[in-house]
Formats: sequence, C-alpha cells, structure tokens
Amino acid sequence: MFKAVIISKDEAGQHAALEEISKSKLPEGDVTVRVQCSTLNYKDALAITGKGPVVRKFPMIPGIDLAGIVEQSDHPEFRIGDNVVLNGWGVGEAHWGGFAEYARLKGDWLIPLEPAFSPEQAMSIGTAGYTAMLCVMALERHGIAPESGEILVTGAAGGVGSIAIAILARLGYTVVAMTGRSSTMAEYLQALGASRIIDRGNYGEHGKPLVKEQWAGAVDVVGGQVLANVCAAMKYRGVVAACGLAGGMSFPATVAPFILRGVTLAGIDSVMCPKAERIEAWQRLARHLDPAVLSSMTQSIALTDVFPASERLVAGAIRGRLIVPISSN
Ligand SMILES: NC(=O)c1ccc[n+]([C@@H]2O[C@H](COP(=O)([O-])OP(=O)(O)OC[C@H]3O[C@@H](n4cnc5c(N)ncnc54)[C@H](OP(=O)(O)O)[C@@H]3O)[C@@H](O)[C@H]2O)c1
Repeated sequence: MFKAVIISKDEAGQHAALEEISKSKLPEGDVTVRVQCSTLNYKDALAITGKGPVVRKFPMIPGIDLAGIVEQSDHPEFRIGDNVVLNGWGVGEAHWGGFAEYARLKGDWLIPLEPAFSPEQAMSIGTAGYTAMLCVMALERHGIAPESGEILVTGAAGGVGSIAIAILARLGYTVVAMTGRSSTMAEYLQALGASRIIDRGNYGEHGKPLVKEQWAGAVDVVGGQVLANVCAAMKYRGVVAACGLAGGMSFPATVAPFILRGVTLAGIDSVMCPKAERIEAWQRLARHLDPAVLSSMTQSIALTDVFPASERLVAGAIRGRLIVPISSN
C-alpha cells in the first residue's frame, strides 16, 4: 500500500483526499519510481480545487512534477537506484502523478536529475522553473540579448515569474517585474534581481493597439488583457514569450504590434516539449540559477497541506514556489 492524493468524481462532483492504495493499482509503464519530492504548480492547484478542467481521467493522482529514485525499470536508459525527474507529458492530468509515494511512468518521459540539484531543489524549480527557462531560451532564440533593453516579467511574484526574474538577472538582463502585489512583494522581487517593480494596475484594462515602445522582451504568465497590453508596448522587433493564463484564456489584441513593429509572440509549452530541449533547459538551470536565490523563494509543505495551499495558489496568494517532500530515503 502507498499514500497518494486521489481526485475522484461522482454525482456530487469532484473531490480530492489523501488515501492509501495498493501498488498493484499503479498504471502501465516501464519504470517504477519511489517519489522523494513533488511540488505544487498552478495546474495542480486547478486540478485539486476543480477550478480548471485539468483532470482528464478519474480517479487521478495529481502532481505534474516529481523527483525520485528508480525502483524497477524495463527501460534501457534507466537502472534501479537512478535519480530521475519528470515534468509534464500529461502526468497528473491523464496518467497518475507525483502526489504519491510511488509512480509508474514511461521511461521516455523521464530525465536524469541534474547532479547540481537535490530532489528538493529540482522540485523547487519544477515545471514552473523549467518553463521560465524555456521562455528565456525563446527570447534568446529570437535575438534578444541583455543590450536589447528591458525585459518585462508579468505575474512576477508567482512561480514562473520568480524564477524567470532570477535567471534573466543572472544572465545580465535588466528585468522589470510586474505584480499585482507591489506593496508587499517589492523587496522580494528586488532580491531576486528585478531592477524595478511596476504595479499591474490598469494593465488589465482594455488598452490601445499600440502604446509607447518600452520592452525589448517579455515573459508573460498572465494572458488575457495583460498580454494584449504587453504586446502593444513592445519595442520594434521585441519578443514576448507567452506561457500562462493566470489572468485569463482570452487574447483581446490587435495585429498592430506584429505587422507594424515586427513583434514576435513566442508560444511556450512545457508539457510536450521535446526531450532534447528539456535536457538543455535543465542543464542551463543548473548553470544559471543561484541555489541561495532558489531557496529564498521556496517553502515546503506536507502532502496533507496541498488542499488548502491549492486554494491559496489559485487565488494568487502564494509567493514563489511550494515543494512537497514525500519520502526522504
Ligand atoms: N505553458 C506552459 O507549459 C506552462 C508551464 C507552467 C505554468 N504555466 C502557466 O503559467 C501561469 C503561472 O504559473 P505559476 O506556476 O507561476 O503560477 P503562480 O505561482 O500561481 O503565479 C501566478 C502569478 O500570476 C499573477 N496572477 C494570479 N492571478 C492573476 C489574475 N487574475 N490576473 C493577473 N495576474 C494574476 C500573480 O502574480 P503577482 O502576485 O505578481 O501579481 C501570481 O502570483 C499559469 O497560468 C500556469 O498554468 C504554463
């Protein structure tokens, strides 16, 4: 038997609870992993609270990320005792995920844990941090360099935003952090490396198709009207890496920034991202993320705490990252 968070659905709706289940119930896969640590991402919080249509099969163990040790493997790349990390691939949505003592997975989904990181540090990064790195890599791929100008990061005090600021600042970019919590988060965001903080204020309201050119690059986790207004304020040939929908799924923009300023909107998807790019992102995280900065943005919670923490995360009330240690040996 092992402990797991289980989301089930009946006539009364969706429920999430900590339960004990038999290892014989683990889904198909060629690698069994003893989970050492997981983490609470925005998507996990949507799944657990039922506030977003994340879960595609019931019952489901949520948790889109995990770090652990291989306990059994029929996959040629992995042996018993290997330290591995999993991010995405529909795990925690359509395949049982990381909020459990054990997971059975496809070996093709796993990557080796970067030697620079402990399982807890890898989960402190998690999908949020690996996505932040994918955003930075997209800006670079489209020619944005530190000398191009200021980079705006929206949803700055959240998981993706916090790690994006830390990486960009470490790489020498001038980072401007946009937050809805400027009165309480300014000191935190400056310590991560933001050169200045701006309040989200009326960025969420309908704006003009084009406004004064301000940003050479942007990492946007908010979507909706905020993303439209970010696009309208990009410098000529600026690049926006769009990865989130914390403020909404819509995109009420015009084509003006794209056809008059040559702005690029680069879409970022971490879930199905090819393995080679994931490995590159994790290797670069090991090089460019200061472990002290990472620990300053991370809090640890127990598996039993994921339920209230999910409510707070969806409400935008969590700062940085939440890890969920599961087994220590
Ligand atoms: N594309 C991908 O593969 C991928 C991967 C990871 C995450 N994501 C998405 O990226 C987004 C952020 O994820 P996360 O893990 O960073 O979540 P998070 O830790 O909850 O942070 C989200 C931040 O967005 C801001 N925010 C929250 N509600 C908002 C609202 N109604 N309007 C405007 N801003 C709001 C808040 O920033 P402030 O406190 O600074 O105001 C909040 O801290 C989510 O939508 C998530 O699904 C996508």
